[in-house]
Amino acid sequence: MVWKRTISSKALEKAVSAAVKVDDKVIFIANIKGKLYAMDAVCSHARCILGSLDAEKLTVKCYCHHAVFDLTTGKMLEPPYVAPDAPKEKLGLKTYQIRDNNGWIEVDV
Ligand code: FES
Repeated sequence: MVWKRTISSKALEKAVSAAVKVDDKVIFIANIKGKLYAMDAVCSHARCILGSLDAEKLTVKCYCHHAVFDLTTGKMLEPPYVAPDAPKEKLGLKTYQIRDNNGWIEVDV
C-alpha cells in the first residue's frame, strides 16, 4: 500500500468531487454524504478527464461522449454515444482505496 496525499478533507467536502493528480495518474475522488470514493479520472474511451457526478446514482458521466461509470466499481454502465457497441466490460476504470487521514484525503495507489 502506498497512500498518497491529495487535497484537504474540507476542500473535498465543499467541492463534493474533484479530479486530482497523483504521481502519473489523475484520480476522480468524491465525498458523498461522508463516504469517500476514488476511481481513475481518465476516461477509457478517448482519455478525457471525468466528469459529471450523479451523487444519487453514484455514477460519473464523461463530458466528452457521455460514457457513464459506476463510481463504486469503475464499471462502464453506458458506452460513449459515438461508440454504442463499445465493449463495456473492457472499458471499466480502476477504483482505489481512499481515506481521510488527519484532515487530508489520501488514495492508495
Ligand atoms: S472520452 Fe469519455 S466517453 Fe469518450
